[in-house]
Amino acid sequence: MKDLVFSGIQPTSDLHLGNYLGALKQWVAIQHDHPCLFCIVDLHAITVAQDPKMLRQNILGVAATYLAAGIDPKRSHIYVQSEVPQHAELAWILGTITKLGELERMTQFKDKSGKQGERVGLGLFSYPVLMAADILLYGSTAVPVGQDQMQHLELARVIARRFNERFGDTFAIPQALIQKIGNRIMSLQDPAKKMSKSDPMEGAKILLRDDAETIRKKIMRAVTDSGKGISYDPEKKPAVSNLMTLYHHASGKTMKEIEKEFAGAGYGDFKKAVADAVIGMLGPMQKRMLEFRKNPAELKRILDAGRDAATEQAEKMMRTVRTRVGLGRE
Ligand code: TYM
Repeated sequence: MKDLVFSGIQPTSDLHLGNYLGALKQWVAIQHDHPCLFCIVDLHAITVAQDPKMLRQNILGVAATYLAAGIDPKRSHIYVQSEVPQHAELAWILGTITKLGELERMTQFKDKSGKQGERVGLGLFSYPVLMAADILLYGSTAVPVGQDQMQHLELARVIARRFNERFGDTFAIPQALIQKIGNRIMSLQDPAKKMSKSDPMEGAKILLRDDAETIRKKIMRAVTDSGKGISYDPEKKPAVSNLMTLYHHASGKTMKEIEKEFAGAGYGDFKKAVADAVIGMLGPMQKRMLEFRKNPAELKRILDAGRDAATEQAEKMMRTVRTRVGLGRE
């Protein structure tokens, strides 16, 4: 049986190269062989404060980015999470069988809640439950994500199993799909940290909308490792390996081929090549992104159709869930 694919990105700000290489690029490849739902997870986005006007803009921006990256709306459904209220409904139900301790262990929660203490929002804490609801609602079995989402996926599996044991076989057990190379793109300024939307350091991330000059500047200024040589060794040479990962994805060359190409070369020449390749990869996508942003009617048609298809599937599952749990009346 074909896997049902589900994944999503938060419309919190502009997407970066980590989002593209860790998630979106996989989605584009997988949609040819599997039915897919790609969601813009705005309910997740509000777990940290958002400007309402910006949020609405970012939702359309992320939709345009999905399309520009190559998601084909004839094959895959693209929709906005909050427009299918069954996500929130299922999240509530799953929250009743999720344990506090399980949520407390989530590293993303620990990172994001930081020193806020008791002021941390409940939504940030229960974020992984909503994520489990997103996935289980459609019986999805394959979830293409970056490495940072593995722990959330593991919890979704635990919640699914627990529900099935308590209420009868209802949910498929999902599996994460992780890229072999590029599942964790690192900051260009600190290769010990992942590239992240919330990083305040401009030079740490490459945004998908950055122009050629900005991309070149950020890559030329990226930190490198001590010593010389272009070789792939994420442990000993994390900064160079990260740049090699970008080059690998942008050029299609293997790590061995890249090492050979730059044998004896300095970091400067290597970075120039990485910048050219990344600019070449993002250029056509940026053009398409602008075209979609200029065509709101088309974007609306696609998101409406996605919402309708998702709602139909979600409601089917929710009827089963409500009956199994004993909610409402016959
Ligand atoms: P978000 O918006 O933070 O990230 C979107 C996707 O980008 C991946 N990613 C990265 N991959 C490689 N290197 C990086 N530096 C990097 N940074 C981000 C993330 O792993 C993710 O795949 N919780 C999810 C959104 C979500 C979701 C879901 C995903 C909500 N519901 C259901 C899958 C299924 C998230 O963190 O999004």
